[in-house]
Amino acid sequence: MKVLEGKKALVTGGSRGIGRAIAVRLAEAGADVAINYLRQNTRALETAKMIEETGRRALVLKANVAEPSQVDGMFKIIRAEFGNLDILVSNAASGVLKPALELTMRHWHWTMDINAATLIPLTQNFYRIKNPDATGIIIAVSSLGAVRAIPNYTAVGASKAALESIVRHLAAELAPKNIRINAISAGVVDTDALKHFPNREELLSESLKRTPAGRLTTPNDVADVAIFLCSDLASMIHGQTIIVDGGHSILA
Ligand SMILES: NC(=O)c1ccc[n+]([C@@H]2O[C@H](COP(=O)([O-])OP(=O)(O)OC[C@H]3O[C@@H](n4cnc5c(N)ncnc54)[C@H](OP(=O)(O)O)[C@@H]3O)[C@@H](O)[C@H]2O)c1
Repeated sequence: MKVLEGKKALVTGGSRGIGRAIAVRLAEAGADVAINYLRQNTRALETAKMIEETGRRALVLKANVAEPSQVDGMFKIIRAEFGNLDILVSNAASGVLKPALELTMRHWHWTMDINAATLIPLTQNFYRIKNPDATGIIIAVSSLGAVRAIPNYTAVGASKAALESIVRHLAAELAPKNIRINAISAGVVDTDALKHFPNREELLSESLKRTPAGRLTTPNDVADVAIFLCSDLASMIHGQTIIVDGGHSILA
């Protein structure tokens, strides 16, 4: 039997990149998977097809995770289609990449709402429709910018630091309610997100040079850890941020 046979999952930002890899891995492990996206319908449908090719059910949900009413609407559809949920992966992210001296409060709130604050309404909704007969699993996707200074990354880095803190607080509150929540923090992964960095090429080559494992982290590397965190093998891991970066962040 597959490790997640019969489970039901939601992956926000599941249309492409790391979210797509996690969604497909979840399906390969036996779960039906709802994927959320914001704009790229074609990419979302491609991911749905990849999920269905594993023999599992896919549900495609367009919603802006920064808008709590849209998050509520998404869960209404999940309740109607799936009945309940076992796994929530909060992966969608965006944000303004600018030097701190150029950031406006609008940039700040926009970034915080999409990357950090959304975990609260997502979790509240998840709690309401969680499968009562199983441990609920929540995973948030973070980045090394939560704990490192990266050029132009002030707002996004702060949002990821907030996200990791929310994960710790939720873990303490929700463990007695049979929900286990953790974060995965990744090193540089070559996805569409990097196209927004003015120094993409430099970021990739520097990261490769500084990674003891000798290669860059891939979306599937992150997805594999997500499957581990969803499994009973991780049953005593609560409120942690697991770093997946080939050793990049351990170097001085
Ligand atoms: N790439 C990296 O180097 C790296 C490193 C560490 C951590 N991460 C984290 O990994 C996660 C995924 O990153 P990625 O590189 O795979 O990103 P990506 O390729 O840019 O994909 C972003 C995903 O989020 C969705 N999205 C963006 N804003 C949204 C919103 N407001 N509401 C709903 N969905 C929204 C996008 O939907 P559409 O397709 O509709 O636009 C897309 O599915 C993020 O949390 C990111 O911070 C990435």
